[in-house]
Amino acid sequence: MQNQIIQFLKNSDGYLSGEQISRQLNISRAAIWKNIEELRREGYDIAAVPHLGYKLNAIPDKLLEREVLDGLQTRTFGRKYLYFDSLTSTMDHSFQLGIDGEPEGTLVCAERQTRGRGRMERVWESPKHKGIYMSLILRPKLSPADVAKITLFAAVGVCEALKDSTGLDVQIKWPNDLLIDGKKVAGILTELSAEMDCVRFVVVGIGINVNNTPRSLPEGATSLRVESGEVQARVKIVQAMMLSLERWYEALSVNGFGPIIDRWRELSLTLGKSVSVGDVRGTAVDLDEHGGLIIRDRTGQRIRCMSGDVIQG
Ligand code: BTN
Repeated sequence: MQNQIIQFLKNSDGYLSGEQISRQLNISRAAIWKNIEELRREGYDIAAVPHLGYKLNAIPDKLLEREVLDGLQTRTFGRKYLYFDSLTSTMDHSFQLGIDGEPEGTLVCAERQTRGRGRMERVWESPKHKGIYMSLILRPKLSPADVAKITLFAAVGVCEALKDSTGLDVQIKWPNDLLIDGKKVAGILTELSAEMDCVRFVVVGIGINVNNTPRSLPEGATSLRVESGEVQARVKIVQAMMLSLERWYEALSVNGFGPIIDRWRELSLTLGKSVSVGDVRGTAVDLDEHGGLIIRDRTGQRIRCMSGDVIQG
């Protein structure tokens, strides 16, 4: 009922009388009032003026299910959407859902995380309503050895969505960091449940600094707001990410991993640069077919790195 009331209010330019709503939805005035109160509690700014009726002044800056699903263009990604005010980590919650058999494309979002985590046991700062903290459940037909490909697929999907929705020059730093002007704006964490030779499910965790101000950002990080000078609509970004990820995922099953690697190369900040990964120093020259970074060292030897942090320069 609340979804229908909001839809009416969104479609109306001015005030909508209680009588109109009551007639269209076949509910009493008292029931309308009760639902309007509930919507207000969720953060919708709805004016109520005697003899005029109701008017929607503002939608809350929250990743509410009704807002994310309204305008979502995907077939499966994000269609099952679970929204939380607070979680320890969307990874923990999604992992349990994966075990419980939730379908591919299920998306978990939280407004804040109390124990958000990144790669290599780092903390992922997750202040309330500032960023996007989400995990997507996938069930790819891959062997565990190939799961690095999922990180690269996700990096391409998220990078394109951020570029399209903000116009900013977002680039990928191997394997899973998204940077603007050398500063980290988003990170991707892939965790899997697998048997010896097959993946049961993968949880792709995505953290994006969206509307953080410089004070609420870790050192070396930036946000979409800082870089664009504008507050960004988080709902639109979630929708754009779901669409972009779904398209790349479908392309992956039809055309294999080649097109993703090609696109990754185009978006890469790492290739062609002097880098070090652990003890390996040299020039990052390519990605191999498993998603590993190929570094050519001073002696001309090509060394493949499958994990670690890239330090540039
Ligand atoms: C990294 O850059 O090291 C990866 C960061 C991943 C952060 C996201 S936020 C949503 C999801 N939940 C977490 O606890 N981590 C991932």
